[in-house]
Amino acid sequence: MTGQPPIGSVLFVCLGNICRSPLAEGIFIHLARQRDVLHRYDIDSAGTGAYHAGERADPRALQIAKRHGVELPSIARQFKPAADIDRFDLILPMDRENERNLIGKGAPRDRVRLMRSFDPTLAGAEPHELDVPDPYFGADDGFQRVYDMLTRACAGLLDELAR
Ligand code: 4NP
Repeated sequence: MTGQPPIGSVLFVCLGNICRSPLAEGIFIHLARQRDVLHRYDIDSAGTGAYHAGERADPRALQIAKRHGVELPSIARQFKPAADIDRFDLILPMDRENERNLIGKGAPRDRVRLMRSFDPTLAGAEPHELDVPDPYFGADDGFQRVYDMLTRACAGLLDELAR
C-alpha cells in the first residue's frame, strides 16, 4: 500500500560516495521496487570523505548499473553526523575503515552494520572478510564484482528488514 510513512531508513556509506555506496543505494531501490516495498523505506547514501561532493556516481558505476537496468540517483555528499544519526535506523558502511570512521563521528555501534554482513552466503564470516573492496583505482571488472557482492547483500538486507 502507498501513502504510509516509511517504516525503515537506511544509509549506505563509503569513502567517496561515487562508487560503492551509490551502487548499494541504486540496487537496494531496484530490488525494493521489484518487491513492491520501496515506499516503506527512506534511503540515501553518503561518503565519509567530501572529495566528490556534488558529483554523480563514477561513470563506471553508472555503466555497470545501467547494464543491469538499475538507476543510480545519488549526488555525492558527506556524512553529516548529527542529522544522519538522527534520520537513519541503519548506517551501513562498505568496509571496516568507513565503519571505524562512522563510529568515530558518533554513529551508535548498534546501528552501524557492515554491508556484507547481510549477505546470507557469508554467514559466520569474520569482519575482515566483509569489506567491499574499493573499485575506484582498480580495473573495470572490479565494478562487476562489487555489483554482484552488493546485489547479494541488498537482497539479504531486504529479507532481514521484512522479518
Ligand atoms: P567509493 O570509492 O568510496 O566507493 O566512492 C572512492 C572514490 C573516490 C576516492 C576513493 C574511493 N578518492 O580517493 O577520490
